Amino acid sequence: MFIIYLIFIDDMDSKILENTPLYSAFSELGKRISLPQGVFYWSGRAKKEAELIGTIGAAYAHEDDFIKEGRSEWLPCYLEGINEYFKNLKINDLVPYAAISGIPELRDIWKNWIIYKSLLNKTVDKEKLDRLKKYTTTPIITTGVTNGISLICSLLLNANDYIITPNKRWGNYDNIIKGFLGAKIKSFKYFKEQQFNFEGFEEAIDEVAVVQDKVLILLNFPNNPTGHVLTKEEALKLIELLQRKQKEVKKPILVIIDDAYEPYIYTENVINRSLFYDLQDLEEDIIPIKLDGATKELLLYGARIGFITIGLKPKWTKNDKELEILKNEINNKLSGLIRSTISNSNHFYQAVMINLFNTKGIEEILMMREPVQNLLKERYIKINSELKKIKNPNMSVDPSSGGFFTFININPNHVKASEFAELLLTKYKVGVIPIEKPDENVNGIRIAYCSIDITQIPEIVNRIKLAFADF
Ligand SMILES: Cc1ncc(COP(=O)(O)O)c(C=O)c1O
Repeated sequence: MFIIYLIFIDDMDSKILENTPLYSAFSELGKRISLPQGVFYWSGRAKKEAELIGTIGAAYAHEDDFIKEGRSEWLPCYLEGINEYFKNLKINDLVPYAAISGIPELRDIWKNWIIYKSLLNKTVDKEKLDRLKKYTTTPIITTGVTNGISLICSLLLNANDYIITPNKRWGNYDNIIKGFLGAKIKSFKYFKEQQFNFEGFEEAIDEVAVVQDKVLILLNFPNNPTGHVLTKEEALKLIELLQRKQKEVKKPILVIIDDAYEPYIYTENVINRSLFYDLQDLEEDIIPIKLDGATKELLLYGARIGFITIGLKPKWTKNDKELEILKNEINNKLSGLIRSTISNSNHFYQAVMINLFNTKGIEEILMMREPVQNLLKERYIKINSELKKIKNPNMSVDPSSGGFFTFININPNHVKASEFAELLLTKYKVGVIPIEKPDENVNGIRIAYCSIDITQIPEIVNRIKLAFADF
């Protein structure tokens, strides 16, 4: 298996394809696009070479740690009883196409879910809630959050347009924005003195606003790879900054919010609901677009069900009739994108989700998920307390409050992240994902504690400490 993998890498390097007539027939996209090997290379090697694996970005645990009558088997975490909703589905739930924009019943269910989530941990006055219900589009169903990002970026970005997103971000953003669309990322340094870097963010907005008639921003909380979530003060500051900027530049600011890890929040001082809601509330043309899905929220990675939801502004329409027309027009645009790419999303899993929501209801679903949230929170606490014990001027841990990962910065003058990961893997048998972007000031390793048993965390951290001592 290992040999086959090396041959694959060799093949990639030798670029035989480029010298064929097939390649010369490729479109610009065809020539540009590729699957970067980074994450797959390191996770593939970790599977074969590591004793302790911190590369897998999905929640795993011993079944008896999250299911009452579970066994000790190491499994992807799932909602107790989820298998029930796969049974008793009728032929009509399985065989036909789903509607292009998704089964209407599930779209309504998800809109209620989004409204419900706005109320979690927060008292919202009736006026705001009514506004949220009225001026939020009915979510459109995509094939996972990835497809949602890709569709929405296709809707907004021309080739060479800029979108602002921090230097520490999910690597697939680059594939979609640069590789697929041929657009550009205006990166800014995520943190300044362990806080969200407002200066860098503002500079990025200023630079983009000069060259473009719109400002596009892509943010993700809890963040992959750092686990960062805005503190409540940071969120207020960010909102004020956006309001000030919008008044100044007088161009629409669109904020795409990747809420893939929305429910996994482990500390009190941070925002415990999506930034979407506060942005939706603003009068200015600061337009929030929420991307979320069943993948992590309902622990159904393979279901490939995601949603796009857009916050509209009351001033855009004169009456309810116009508002309805506007919603239909937006729906039509997104449906056009879906029809011309994936045609429609998986019917079976939409039916499973409808069955789950209709049988259990939102509150019970939240309770079903709680054991997994608690388990991840315990690991989060453990890994952070262990990492605090390492005192080394060449490393620092980014602020984190949620999600599946933690990120250790390594001084690039001391050692490159890939060299560090190599030693960690070969000598200490620990697999992590190195992220190395010298142009964007990133040099560090991502640890996916979502798939590391809590009992292994002290040992992993100890081996990281030993590896630091080797350089
Ligand atoms: C930040 C972020 N957004 C989106 C996704 C993709 O979600 P999905 O599997 O639903 O496409 C991931 C998955 O790793 C992610 O880390």
